[in-house]
Amino acid sequence: MVLQVEDLHTSFFTKMGEVKAVDGISFHVRERETFGIVGESGCGKSVTGLSIMRLLPEPSGQIVSGKIILEGKNLVELSKKHMRAYRGKVVSMILQDPMTSLNPVYTIGDQVGEAVRMHQDLPENMVEAEVIDVLRLLRIPAPEVRLKEYPFQLSGGMKQRVVGAIAMSCRPRLLIADEPTTALDATIQAQYIALFEDIQEKTNVAIIFITHDFGVVARICDRVGVMYAGKIIETAPTRDIFKNPKHPYTIALIKSVPQLDKKDDRLFSIEGQPPSMMNLPKGCRFCPRCHVALDICKEQEPPEVKISENRSVSCWRVK
Ligand SMILES: Nc1ncnc2c1ncn2[C@@H]1O[C@H](COP(=O)(O)OP(=O)(O)OP(=O)(O)O)[C@@H](O)[C@H]1O
Ligand SMILES: [Mg+2]
Repeated sequence: MVLQVEDLHTSFFTKMGEVKAVDGISFHVRERETFGIVGESGCGKSVTGLSIMRLLPEPSGQIVSGKIILEGKNLVELSKKHMRAYRGKVVSMILQDPMTSLNPVYTIGDQVGEAVRMHQDLPENMVEAEVIDVLRLLRIPAPEVRLKEYPFQLSGGMKQRVVGAIAMSCRPRLLIADEPTTALDATIQAQYIALFEDIQEKTNVAIIFITHDFGVVARICDRVGVMYAGKIIETAPTRDIFKNPKHPYTIALIKSVPQLDKKDDRLFSIEGQPPSMMNLPKGCRFCPRCHVALDICKEQEPPEVKISENRSVSCWRVK
C-alpha cells in the first residue's frame, strides 16, 4: 500500500464560519494503481490533494483530524521541515492551474534543473543529463533543444508536460494529478492521459487522478471514489461502477457523460446545486437533489456500507 487516507477532515476557517471542504473521507492507493477522484466543482477534490501535500493555504485551511499514511508515515504528524523533504521526493502534485507553476523568465532547463537539484543529490555535471531524462520520460520531443527555451515558446500541451516533468523529477512514489481547468482539446487530452499510463509503466508510481469527468475515469483509472459535498459516497473498481453504479449521484454523473453513439445529443445534467459546505443538510447531503429519496434520507446521514470486497456505498437505498 502506498497511501492510506483515514477519516480525513479538512476545513477552512473563514469570517463567515467553518467550511468543511473535506468532511471525513477514507481511501487507499496501491503501487502502480491509478485511483480517480471524481465529482462536481467544489466537492473537495483539490482540497483532498492539497491536504495530502500539506499545501493548504494557511492559516485558514487546516487538517482538522484524520490520518494520511504515505509509505508508513502519517503526514499529518510530520513537522513542516520533514514534510518539505517528503514533498517532491515521495509525493508530488500537478496543480490544477499548471501554467502558473512555470516561471516566464527562466528556461525550461533551469526550472526542471532546479527541481532535480532540490530533490536529488547529484553532482552538478549530471544535472543536465537528468533533466533531459525526465523531459524524455514526459515524451517531450528534442529535449536537448527544449531545455534552452522559455515557457512562452511552448504550446499549451507542451507546457503541461514540462509541469509534469517537474512533478516527476524526483521520481515520487505517489503522483497527484489535478486535471487542468483550461480545457485541453480532445486529442491533447487523449495524449495527456496516455502519458500517465506510460509514466506509470516506466516508474511504478501510484497515481491519484482528479477529474469531474467520468469519461476520463473510464480511460485511466483502475478504481474510483465519487465525491459529493466533501464526502466519498461510492468507491469501486472502474469496471464495476460503469456496469452497475449504486449511488443515485453516481448514476446521474455517469449519465451526464456524452456518448457518441447516442442519437439524442442533449447532455444530461443533474438538477439543482450541491449544498453549502458551511450549512450542510441534516440527512444525506445528496437528498435535496435525489429522485429516489426515502423519508430516512432527510433525517439521517447514511453510513458507509461495504457491499463487496472492493466496493462501498453510502446510500439508504443500498444494503
Ligand atoms: N481558500 C479557501 N477558503 C475558503 N474556502 C475554500 C478555499 N479553497 C477552497 N474552498 C472551498 O472548499 C470547497 C472544496 O474546494 P475544492 O477546490 O477542493 O473543489 P474541487 O472539487 O477541486 O472543485 P473544481 O472541480 O472546481 O476544481 C469548496 O466549497 C470551496 O469553496
Ligand atoms: Mg479543483
